[in-house]
Amino acid sequence: MMLRIIILISAIFVASCSSALYKPIPENYSSAEEYQMMADGRKAYVTKCSGCHLLYLPHQYDEKTWRHNMDEMQERSNVSDKEKELILTYILSAPIASKP
Ligand code: HEC
Repeated sequence: MMLRIIILISAIFVASCSSALYKPIPENYSSAEEYQMMADGRKAYVTKCSGCHLLYLPHQYDEKTWRHNMDEMQERSNVSDKEKELILTYILSAPIASKP
């Protein structure tokens, strides 16, 4: 019972913090492929990177630091090179205007 409550609370917590994350919408992209890449990148980021800590937001680091952090985090997490590229594409192209 207690465990269920903890799981429920964690799920709500993860859902609420990932909602601050920029969510791509198709109208903002010139092609379906471009949109799909952003959507897949966001999904990989949320599913692979929220297990150990809260999700860091795209505007929190510059490109160089993100690349460095991703290299380090890939070693810790179960992220393929392809997923790593998708996550980086998502993070580095997310508009800074999504700043909360
Ligand atoms: C297995 C646990 C684990 C997973 C999975 C994980 N991280 Fe981390 N992450 C950590 C720990 C622990 C720290 C803090 C300690 C450190 O910086 O070494 C951290 C720190 C960070 C930081 C802050 C670094 C800094 O120096 O400020 C960023 C950004 C980050 N993680 C991004 C990611 C991304 C992106 C992913 C998904 C690819 C990810 N993490 C997946 C464990 C994890």
